[in-house]
Amino acid sequence: MADEIMRITGGTPVRGETTVQGAKNSVLPIMAAAMLCQGETVLTNVPQLSDVYAASRILNRLGAHCTPDGHTVTINAADICRAEIPDADMRAMRSTIMFMGPLLGRMRQCTLTRPGGCALGARPINLHLDAMEKMGVIIRCTGEQIVCTADKLHGARIPLAFPSVGVTENVIMAAVLAEGETVLTNAAREPEIADLAGYLNRCGAKIRGAGEGTIVIEGVPQLHAAEYRIMPDRIAAMTWLCAAAASRGSITLRDVRTGDLENCLDLLRRAGCKLGECDGTLFLDAGGVLRSIREIVTMPYPGFPTDAQALLMAVLATAHGTSVFDETIFEDRYKHAGELVRMGADIRIKGTAAVVEGVHCLHGAYVEAMDLRGGAALAVAAAGAEGQTVLHGLHHIDRGYDHFAEVFNSLGIRTERMVISTSSRGKTSA
Ligand code: EPU
Repeated sequence: MADEIMRITGGTPVRGETTVQGAKNSVLPIMAAAMLCQGETVLTNVPQLSDVYAASRILNRLGAHCTPDGHTVTINAADICRAEIPDADMRAMRSTIMFMGPLLGRMRQCTLTRPGGCALGARPINLHLDAMEKMGVIIRCTGEQIVCTADKLHGARIPLAFPSVGVTENVIMAAVLAEGETVLTNAAREPEIADLAGYLNRCGAKIRGAGEGTIVIEGVPQLHAAEYRIMPDRIAAMTWLCAAAASRGSITLRDVRTGDLENCLDLLRRAGCKLGECDGTLFLDAGGVLRSIREIVTMPYPGFPTDAQALLMAVLATAHGTSVFDETIFEDRYKHAGELVRMGADIRIKGTAAVVEGVHCLHGAYVEAMDLRGGAALAVAAAGAEGQTVLHGLHHIDRGYDHFAEVFNSLGIRTERMVISTSSRGKTSA
């Protein structure tokens, strides 16, 4: 059996620049939404990710014609004829649940099972199902299958108990072709929601307030296809910024929307990084001693994102003093902490809190990515660590980063990706 690993040689400050990829969490719902539109949708600035290929496979199995070509994806949904996503496809990623809204909008029915995705604790779909029921969907759960049907999909008032990103997106996608008006309150405000609405409005939808707590969607009879550029990925941007900070280096990032990153940039500044920006280009300089941050609480946008928690922890592992994280969004999102400890970090987990005592430096080790952002955080830590780190579990990283190793190399972090036999696992020569 073979396994792919990344060997990262750390300890040299990052010096370099890179362009930020398109956003994973924007392109996936937009690809699903394309099934609502008549004609040929052309998406540009699409990152090359295994999740994008998985979404493309699902669209094709439903009968659409979806063709990824470099950083462009073309989708023609005219021939969609199926409304069932097999369990194996559902388990490929969390975003498969995002097919529920558009399938109901387009076919008035769908049969799914529970979605997969990163193991971050229980990730129920109760709020998705409740919201669809409010719009007239009848849901039957038979064994593993969730069978949804709607003679008529109608607008509704939907107050969300929690501002879930996925539920907000599913409601928008179901509501754009529903009869009447849908008012979603306590909606998620993440920038990716506004990107989805931006795409759908370009296709003729009537969505107001996306990016705010109340979103109003007036159903229209049909949507036409359009060309749309996917927004830059704020978490990928934060990943490269953190690699520069962890290595006490400097970086220039192009194609960044700094407004979307304010909560992250604020914490990097508090840690002692110097930041500057000019026309969509962001500069970070982390030369010198970094300071701990007393309280970092993950919150829905515009709060500090849970997706950046592991990345910032990799930086603060070597900052002076004690940092304390409170993870409020997912119940089990500290799997990277144990791996960082293998690299010499001093981290204790107590319930939802992670207490990080800054150490002088980390050292290379054999570590394993347990989920997407946790895996990226280990690579970030490796960039600043003395010696070589061997990172396993790259399939997690490939779900969300376009050519991770190439970007690291372009930033001056020596990174080799190689296939090893699993019998030599843990013994790869460093
Ligand atoms: N939740 C429920 N019931 C539901 C839906 C959500 O209890 O029906 C809970 C979840 O269990 C969780 C919280 O609500 O505790 C937040 O979940 P949310 O629905 O907002 O997250 P998501 O839509 O599943 C998206 C991103 C995640 C990101 C979260 C939070 C995509 C494809 N995924 O997930 O991204 O962490 O929002 O911002 O957009 C990643 O990119 O690595 C990633 C995990």
